[in-house]
Amino acid sequence: MKIMVIGGGGREHTLGWALSKSDEVRDFYFVPGNGGTLSLGHNINNLENEDIIRFAKEKKIDLTVVGPEKPLVQGIVDKFREEGLPIFGPMKDAAKLEGSKAFAKELMAAANVPTASFEIFDEFRAAKNYVENKREPFVVKADGLAGGKGCFVCRHAKEGLRALEVLMEERKFGDSGKTVVIEDCLGGEEVSVLALISNDRILPFLPSQDHKRANDNDRGPNTGGMGAYAPVVFIGKDELTEIIENIFLPTIKELGRRGIEYKGVLYAGLMISKSGPKVLEFNVRFGDPESQAILPLLEDDLLELLLRTNDYNLPGKINWDRGWAVAVVLASNGYPGKYKKGFEIDIKDNSCVLFHAGTRLSDGILYTAGGRVLSVVGLGEDLITAKKKAYKCISKVKFSDMYYRKDIADKGIKYLEKGRL
Ligand code: AMP
Ligand code: GLY
Repeated sequence: MKIMVIGGGGREHTLGWALSKSDEVRDFYFVPGNGGTLSLGHNINNLENEDIIRFAKEKKIDLTVVGPEKPLVQGIVDKFREEGLPIFGPMKDAAKLEGSKAFAKELMAAANVPTASFEIFDEFRAAKNYVENKREPFVVKADGLAGGKGCFVCRHAKEGLRALEVLMEERKFGDSGKTVVIEDCLGGEEVSVLALISNDRILPFLPSQDHKRANDNDRGPNTGGMGAYAPVVFIGKDELTEIIENIFLPTIKELGRRGIEYKGVLYAGLMISKSGPKVLEFNVRFGDPESQAILPLLEDDLLELLLRTNDYNLPGKINWDRGWAVAVVLASNGYPGKYKKGFEIDIKDNSCVLFHAGTRLSDGILYTAGGRVLSVVGLGEDLITAKKKAYKCISKVKFSDMYYRKDIADKGIKYLEKGRL
């Protein structure tokens, strides 16, 4: 089969790596890919919208897998289906679960899905008035896509006002900030639960935990994610069943009631609060760096799972390796703010599981080309071993301005040692 993967981050390299294990895969195209995906197939640059469709037809691509949210929200799946081209991912109306936080919140309210109490505003003065009288802390979110930067956890009204100015008046994220969601601030542990969805069938992946803040001990600004581990220790089988029944199922059913089908992977960003799991956000795609921790533990054939999702033929369960995985993101110092790129990357040991994100290969030399550069993955029979292996691999990688968190998976290890967080 010929497979095309849309995107060029760590998630897309990981998806390609996992899909390439299938005996069925013959040719791989990454659009645009990165320095790592070149070891699996071809990188195709400068392809957009209609060009991608033309390319898929020309090359007779058997399955296109979409990594990032933007093309999904813009309706790439609808366009491929109109042309009869096989593609994995939800259509535009279902992708609104990530594309509009106001849509997602209203849908959750209608379906009784646990989430933080919220109000929606499309008028600055009304939002300002609400914030001035709101119990602190609270959270202000851009309705539309903002590359993970449109969410402000505000300690007091002044911070809230600033967030409203940035989003609604200065329009830092364009029309994405025209409407805002203001919601209660939840406490607890964040967990990412991803599941394959095929109509009303829901098949969860292993839960994982991302580390969103830039610095150790969850300090510093929010990033796309600085590392992840799987499985998550404080979510057992019963809790996962509860999450499927109380969160995923009513969400999918409510979409169905509105005539919207969900087919693809759905990612619920959850806060495990004292009163149970609550939805922080829905994403309509695989997580990054969650994929780097989850997919190396997959025993089943990923390609078969994606094809069976499309065919309404999901198996009863997914088989997993019994071990643990810890993925640590190696970033350019300064990320998620300003950083330098173009430094040579030296990788001494090829035995490490290593996924590329912001890398570029030129004349056989690998260079840094983005904020998140690489993910190193440690696999082990226990979480401590997996963590040690990941950090040992880092010593084999060198580039100028390398920065990484030292505490990926520590919360899981502490929980295993003490039985609590
Ligand atoms: P979002 O863009 O909705 O995923 O939010 C980004 C991050 O902001 C989340 O991963 C959380 O760390 C934090 N966050 C979002 N909503 C809330 C909330 N209601 N309470 C506490 N933290 C939140
Ligand atoms: N790791 C966060 C995300 O994929 O959105």
